[in-house]
Amino acid sequence: GSKKSSKQGAKFEQRTTDVTRSIEMEEQRAYEVWVSEMMLQQTRVATVIEYYRRWMERWPSLHHLAQASQEEVNTVWAGLGYYRRARFLLEGAKQIVERGSGFPRSVKELQKVPGIGEYTSGAIASICFQQPVPVVDGNVVRVLSRLRAITENPKLPSTVRIHWALAEELVDARRPGDLNQSLMELGATVCKPSSPDCSFCPVSTHCKALSLESKSVKAVTDFP
Ligand code: ADE
Repeated sequence: GSKKSSKQGAKFEQRTTDVTRSIEMEEQRAYEVWVSEMMLQQTRVATVIEYYRRWMERWPSLHHLAQASQEEVNTVWAGLGYYRRARFLLEGAKQIVERGSGFPRSVKELQKVPGIGEYTSGAIASICFQQPVPVVDGNVVRVLSRLRAITENPKLPSTVRIHWALAEELVDARRPGDLNQSLMELGATVCKPSSPDCSFCPVSTHCKALSLESKSVKAVTDFP
């Protein structure tokens, strides 16, 4: 009867509201991850924190940022260096808002935004939109080199390509963002360039470099 159908109508409306709200939350998070990953590209975490806090206070959302001027953005960025990143953020915000279809969600769409390449698109897509895509930075290259005892020079583009492929195999379809961030964090805190803390490593039993007697953990990534 009409009672039942109006009840279903209300249910449908509620579901639509819920979905809209969760998309809004994902897109807000994408803005935040985008800004932080851009800042972290050439700057240490400890330095970025205060800059990130001030940025978000000034431009709490993508729409706020899109209204900013380059001079304002440069003022808040001052001290972080590589101002090209600040230009990309402003240009990118304007482009995404103008496009009018929300924050891009796939690697392909994300890479159409100025300044978003393989690394940043992978980070945003996996952390914010649950896309099972890899993210490879210098830390991840070191972790995977040791885990798989890959002795290829990590500075060569051909080696980096191998690592993107390896990371793609590893990425967990249910929690891609967590896997990617775990690899980055492991490299930054435990699997350090020199004297890694293998005794604290949660994946030491899987580490090929550690188990090899002929090659030390250090030797695997120790390139001049
Ligand atoms: N360094 C830069 N981005 C990071 C992230 N998302 N997780 C851990 N370390 C990072």
